[in-house]
Amino acid sequence: MDTQALKDSWHLVSRSGDQVPLYFYSVLFLMNPDVRDMFPVSMARQRDRLVGALGQVVSNVDQVEEVVPFLQQLGRDHRKFAVTAAHYPAVGQALLATLEHFLGERWTPALAHDWTQAYNLVAQVMVEASNEAAKVSPPWWEAEIIGQETRTLGIAVIRARLNYQYPFRPGQSASISYSMRPRIWRFYSFANAPRQDNTIDLHVRMVDGGALSSALVMGARRGDVLRVGAAVGERLTLAPDVTGDLLMIAGGTGLAPLKALVEQIAFEGPSRRVDLVVGARTSRDLYDLEALGKMAAEHPWLNVVPVVSHDPFYRGTRGYAVDVALQGWRGQHVFVCGSEEMVQATNGRLLDAGVPSEQIHFDEFTSDRGRES
Ligand code: HEM
Repeated sequence: MDTQALKDSWHLVSRSGDQVPLYFYSVLFLMNPDVRDMFPVSMARQRDRLVGALGQVVSNVDQVEEVVPFLQQLGRDHRKFAVTAAHYPAVGQALLATLEHFLGERWTPALAHDWTQAYNLVAQVMVEASNEAAKVSPPWWEAEIIGQETRTLGIAVIRARLNYQYPFRPGQSASISYSMRPRIWRFYSFANAPRQDNTIDLHVRMVDGGALSSALVMGARRGDVLRVGAAVGERLTLAPDVTGDLLMIAGGTGLAPLKALVEQIAFEGPSRRVDLVVGARTSRDLYDLEALGKMAAEHPWLNVVPVVSHDPFYRGTRGYAVDVALQGWRGQHVFVCGSEEMVQATNGRLLDAGVPSEQIHFDEFTSDRGRES
């Protein structure tokens, strides 16, 4: 297989931007009207999620060994869209038709052969993982909302009870959808360690134009039902080799998974000191201070430092969370969670200050990244 040709051809095709998913979905839905129902009602304002990933993953098939765990997770997680093995040929066909359309004369039988093989390989890994998962877990769980508190303009804390046993670890996230906005799925982190009563807390920030986050913040009511995909993400969990004291830096609702880690440490019996620096633009955005204050009062090993960056009248500590955190860094592992921009900026500052990269923990799936566009 000529994998360079796959990459080059995908590079060429992606230059056509939004035209590519538009064409792909037209072919897919025209040839397979039954799969239309799996996708959000309005695709117009939907940032493409599937097509870009398809081209990227399939054209990098030479590194398939490295991405097998990711593909397996993706395959297992696709069960939440009600995807079965029978749907894969349809998506493969639409992908090939799209490539042919945008590549014109460059679309040769040899290239068609290689794309087909590469797609089949990726699809096989996903289908096998999905079949294995079907033996042990449901495609999604349901969770009834039992509490919704609007904490400040645009941020709500939602408590929901899962319908049955749900395995997850503090620091993980899951794809969530809401009955009022069917078929729109976004990732949120759990803000708590697993509880006996099967409840979970989600910190939801309303994103501009985000159909799901707006519905959850503005409209979620007790009794409404969420769908919850399997828990994913390892990078913000507490691995056994992460010993000693911890420094945590939260931006906005990126607090959620860090709070879950604090709960885990409390359950396991405190063996380390935790400094949790909670950053926000204004004091109003420090939406969980009351709960954090209670935790700090209960646990002498926990130090919570709220920091506000854009409020000259704030009486507490002002500045960026990372700068305040660095003043107290004593060689600990650092956990960072917040918006993409906040995580990038924070990591840059930590590295510049000499924090070794293997001691910086952050995740791609965070609350603030329940992005919608
Ligand atoms: C090699 C095969 C495939 C790959 C690499 C792939 C990859 C992805 C990725 C990375 C996402 C975004 C993650 C997410 O929203 O959870 C996604 C979304 C999705 N995929 Fe797949 N997928 C594949 C096959 C399929 C098939 C066969 C179907 C069934 C028709 C399907 C249906 C969907 C749907 C409905 C979404 C959500 C789209 C949206 O919200 O706009 N995928 N896929």
